Amino acid sequence: MNESLSEIESRALRELVAVSGDEALEAWRVAHLGRRSPLTLLLRGLAALPLDERKSAGAAANQLKQRLESAFEARKEELAHSLTEALAADRIDVTLPGPPLPAGRLHPTTQTLRDVLDCFVSMGFQVVEGPEVEWDRYNFEALRIPRDHPARDMWDTLWIDYERDGERPMLLRTHTSPMQVRVMEQTEPPIRVVVPGRCYRYEATDPTHEWMMVQVEGLAVDEGISLSDLKGTLTDFAHRIFGPERRTAFRCDYFPFVEPGMELRIDCFLCGGEGCRTCSRSGWIEILGAGMVHPEILESVGYDPERYTGFAFGMGIERIAMLKHGVGDLRLFFENDVRFLEQFG
Ligand code: PHE
Repeated sequence: MNESLSEIESRALRELVAVSGDEALEAWRVAHLGRRSPLTLLLRGLAALPLDERKSAGAAANQLKQRLESAFEARKEELAHSLTEALAADRIDVTLPGPPLPAGRLHPTTQTLRDVLDCFVSMGFQVVEGPEVEWDRYNFEALRIPRDHPARDMWDTLWIDYERDGERPMLLRTHTSPMQVRVMEQTEPPIRVVVPGRCYRYEATDPTHEWMMVQVEGLAVDEGISLSDLKGTLTDFAHRIFGPERRTAFRCDYFPFVEPGMELRIDCFLCGGEGCRTCSRSGWIEILGAGMVHPEILESVGYDPERYTGFAFGMGIERIAMLKHGVGDLRLFFENDVRFLEQFG
């Protein structure tokens, strides 16, 4: 009997040392202290023994039961403690930096606009802005585009629902050129300004046209300004924006508010001037309209056209961005698709 008690004890204690985790501990309790454990069965079997034997054996078995119970409690403590330690070692370090947040950036149109403005500011031009809702007078009349002039067809537009004397005198400006007249009306030469701003046209969209766009207008008026100033300024601009290796060329074009009028072209960035689909096989791509301010306009704002001359130019910024980054469809700049926008650092 004593033998058997010490066997039970040594096996139980040996097993207890190997126990780790709550489940194993509970299994140990059931195996060694539970209703069907050897010790419980032994205690139950005591009833069959004669009284004096029962007493001593019962006392020894109960002592063992107490020893196993306290060993169980001690092991439980120990395991709980090591769990605390494990948790402490494993705790989250809140001082570590989190996963990086996606960073926003400027829209490619804005980036290009800033590049273009910076370029002219560094040449001494000032930035001014004007109204997007414009009078017919500034958008057309003052620029030598009277009612019924065929040039109005080039700038079909969105009119404001407001009539005066049977006419609709207000519209969403079709270009930034009305600011030429507004600036000249308010200032005396010398003038060097660039005018960024949104413009609107009643237009069917295609890969190179949208009904809304951002333009930059330029105007320089002073004594002795000549066509070579225009060419020098705009050639320098083209080289700064598109790279010094780009070839540039001026070609006659018609705008009612300049004389002579011209367009500036750069050699096609895709074929390098050989001729391809993007440049309509010409080898050249138009980037802006320009010309010498028409003397009648100088006169209309009270300048003496014998004394003052000037040049003006206008460009679409999305177009410049498109050419600069080799984007095939201008409409992408308006869709706000991050997959497209992410490409522009
Ligand atoms: N306003 C013209 C356009 O929108 C561009 C231009 C500006 C041409 C100034 C000549 C001089 O097409």
